[in-house]
Amino acid sequence: MFRIDEVNLYDELGLEKIKELSRAFYTKVYADKDPEFRGMFPDDMEMAIQNQYEFFAQRLGGLPLYSARKGHPALRARHAHFHITRRHAERWLGYMRNAMTEVGIPDDARGRLDEFLTDTAYFMQNVNDDGSRIY
Ligand code: HEM
Repeated sequence: MFRIDEVNLYDELGLEKIKELSRAFYTKVYADKDPEFRGMFPDDMEMAIQNQYEFFAQRLGGLPLYSARKGHPALRARHAHFHITRRHAERWLGYMRNAMTEVGIPDDARGRLDEFLTDTAYFMQNVNDDGSRIY
């Protein structure tokens, strides 16, 4: 249970703001100069944006756009073939926090989103600092 589940952030923010957030986030990711981080992401930035905003839309209380197109999000499984360290999770979160600032996510929504995103990002970590596999 996350604090995002106590309210309907999809209604509060609206689909356009959620789309803006994913575009702002991925614009930063795709401009990243770190080959290890940037190299994980496929060439098609528009597809990555759509995957993310459709997932957020449904997770935040809107229509199940993501699942209608791709099935269960199964986030850990869908990230299992990437090499995600704590450093990568922090980098991902840093871009997401910058994107939230850039598009102007209101304070209350931001606090709730930050809790969910932080927890989920560390959950996606699948490689320890010594290079051994977590799952
Ligand atoms: C911890 C750092 C993370 C890294 C390095 C990472 C990396 C990636 C990469 C490389 C992709 C493939 C892009 C695509 O084809 O759409 C992806 C997809 C995705 N990520 Fe992450 N991710 C991270 C955290 C998260 C978090 C915290 C969430 C959700 C809160 C998330 C949600 C998604 C979703 C929904 C997709 C689309 C999956 C698909 O449809 O195949 N990711 N991620």
